Amino acid sequence: MSTSRAGDRLPVLLVYGTRPEAIKVAPVVKELERHSRLRPVVAVTGQHREMLDQVNQVFDITPDFDLNILSHGQTLYGITTKALIGLESVIGQVAPAALLVQGDTTTAFAAALAAFYQQVPVVHLEAGLRTSNRYNPFPEEMNRRLASQLTDVHLAPTALARDNLLLENVPRERITVTGNTVIDALQVVTSAPRPVHDPQFAQFLQRAADRPVLLVTSHRRESWGAPIGHTARAVAELARRYPDLMILLPAHRNPIVRDAILPPLEGLDNVVVTEPLDYPDFCQALQRSTVVLTDSGGVQEEAPSLGIPVLVLRETTERPEAVSAGSAKLVGTDEYRIVDEVSRLLTNRAAYDAMAQARNPYGDGAAARRGVDAIAAFLGVGEPPAEFDPGT
Ligand code: UD1
Ligand code: UDP
Repeated sequence: MSTSRAGDRLPVLLVYGTRPEAIKVAPVVKELERHSRLRPVVAVTGQHREMLDQVNQVFDITPDFDLNILSHGQTLYGITTKALIGLESVIGQVAPAALLVQGDTTTAFAAALAAFYQQVPVVHLEAGLRTSNRYNPFPEEMNRRLASQLTDVHLAPTALARDNLLLENVPRERITVTGNTVIDALQVVTSAPRPVHDPQFAQFLQRAADRPVLLVTSHRRESWGAPIGHTARAVAELARRYPDLMILLPAHRNPIVRDAILPPLEGLDNVVVTEPLDYPDFCQALQRSTVVLTDSGGVQEEAPSLGIPVLVLRETTERPEAVSAGSAKLVGTDEYRIVDEVSRLLTNRAAYDAMAQARNPYGDGAAARRGVDAIAAFLGVGEPPAEFDPGT
């Protein structure tokens, strides 16, 4: 661990590579920029490119290092090794007091390993999420378990995540329950009106005035192939069954996902497919939605906080809090089940109202501050924070 000279601000190296990591790390970068004893140094792996750069622009973050590793058709081996090798010299140059990773991507795991190899303490943001299946979600479940093994400071978003870590014998004093920084980010971008950025989305909003809206996103590796095809056919069936329904699908850049999801939706007038929306546009899409259909982790956290029912296109979730609270439901990727579940919400007012209660099991907007306080306390330059309690 590097030591501080009097008056120095200790460098905390934040490493991320994909869109959801960028959204969740951004509030921490901003908090570190304001801190008196710590300062941020940002390194992106570039596992994502356009989808990552969009977020950095929105939050006005210019990375200090960019490994630019993305290649089309990239594999888990390629991402892991390129990130690991690229980070060796970044860590050497920065000599960080700590290195922060977020969540469960392959960038996050490789960066935690890279830090460990130079005996730099690892901070894991969004620590302790678990399913009981090491292959689902794949490879995220294993990435986050491996990251936990390498971590010194576990920033758990919820009490349940803390309990998962305790069950794995992580010492209590190494865990801080912070809330999820995605809620900090969501609050920042929804706190003031912003002009719509994407022209297709602007047109969609005009056409959708006074009409119900279904927002759809899908990208997960374990859904590649047949499951994403089933989702696409279900969405097409919903478009035909409910001509008044406006369906928005911001398509993930992954060509494997696009090839599976887009063909069944061609020629349907009430289905609008856009490029990935920038974060403020996407938050506006969420706010305008009647129902959300998604396999995304982040969207599962954002929708309940906005009071929008979310149907989750997965068999398992590491985010059960909203399911328990009644705002989210696991529906899997069976075509007929998806059609039935969406239809129920569109046609049954009581079922809809029961799900459409704004609940905040994931955070209160102060997660980044708690996380930074926990890092400062670990490094001996601050006091530990009071933990997040969704009941208060
Ligand atoms: C990755 C993460 C996943 C996370 C998701 C968020 C891993 C193994 N997967 O999955 O955990 O939920 O990001 O979206 O870490 N592409 C572009 N431009 C971009 C982004 C992606 O062209 O800005 C294309 C490239 O062809 C790339 C492909 O998408 O090869 C797949 O990207 P990759 O990061 O490997 O997988 P994701 O499905 O995005
Ligand atoms: N998101 C976005 N634009 C889009 C779709 C999603 O900004 O077109 C945001 C969304 O609000 C959430 C995050 O991206 O915060 C989720 O990313 P993704 O679904 O790619 O990854 P996951 O959360 O499943 O890891």
